[in-house]
Amino acid sequence: MPAQDEEMQTHGPLFDMRALGFKADEVVTVTGGGSGIGKATVLAAAQSGLAVSIWDINMAGAEETAKEVEQLGGKAIALSVDVTDPDAIEAAWKSTIAFGTCRYLVNNAGPPSTAGGPFVKNLEIALGSMELVTMRWLETQAEQATSIVNLASIAGNYMGGGGAISSFYPAAKAGVVGYTRYLATRFGGKPRANAVAPGMTLTPRTIPYFSIPAIAKGLERIPAGRAGYPEEIAAAILFLLSPASSYINGALLPVDGGWALS
Ligand SMILES: NC(=O)c1ccc[n+]([C@@H]2O[C@H](COP(=O)([O-])OP(=O)(O)OC[C@H]3O[C@@H](n4cnc5c(N)ncnc54)[C@H](O)[C@@H]3O)[C@@H](O)[C@H]2O)c1
Repeated sequence: MPAQDEEMQTHGPLFDMRALGFKADEVVTVTGGGSGIGKATVLAAAQSGLAVSIWDINMAGAEETAKEVEQLGGKAIALSVDVTDPDAIEAAWKSTIAFGTCRYLVNNAGPPSTAGGPFVKNLEIALGSMELVTMRWLETQAEQATSIVNLASIAGNYMGGGGAISSFYPAAKAGVVGYTRYLATRFGGKPRANAVAPGMTLTPRTIPYFSIPAIAKGLERIPAGRAGYPEEIAAAILFLLSPASSYINGALLPVDGGWALS
């Protein structure tokens, strides 16, 4: 695994997602869509024909991503939203509904696995925010809501993560899976809800970790021989959102190059 200061490829190809069965110009909302996995998901969604509502606390990242969508010939709006703020969520849903028919939601935003601060506060940001965003959508758009994908992690689900990350993170990510299963069954299967569990993925958040010898050593166990690209996580998210996965509901899909099994 190359260290951070060596030349390191940080992006994979943008896969051709056009056969997944989305209808053109239906809207997907992606929280944390201004960076990393969220940004790759926005670009893959745009390439698959969806219009995208990009929510992020980092407006510069959201706007830059919207610009890249337009360069791909797609449609996007960038909204400044803190997913822990009910008023901001309410306003963002209003703007999104005015933008188009929102059928898909990706709950991706969350604090880094190394975030400090109170355990319960971090749980609220990482897990509580998904409930706030999702339920506000379902209260107003239940007829349109078709499919949800939540970002879990192999941490808390396939690995303990002890030592390298903060205690809230595996707890929150195990909670994401429980919450996803609740959503999958609560409304009679519409919307469907599934979760993706990325392994170590190259994003602005994680790239600094690659120069830490203990982390680089742990990554040597990945059967794929490398960390994942955000585009590889985005491809799994788009599949689980799409009509191509119409009979998959309540699933957790690890996308980790086989790391958790090694
Ligand atoms: N990168 C990995 O190795 C990895 C592994 C497992 C799971 N994940 C999960 O994937 C998701 C994305 O991670 P990433 O590595 O792409 O991170 P990233 O830091 O590259 O991007 C996260 C984005 O979310 C935004 N964000 C953070 N808090 C927010 C808030 N309160 N409201 C709105 N936006 C907010 C940030 O501004 C940023 O644009 C997270 O849920 C993370 O836990 C990542």
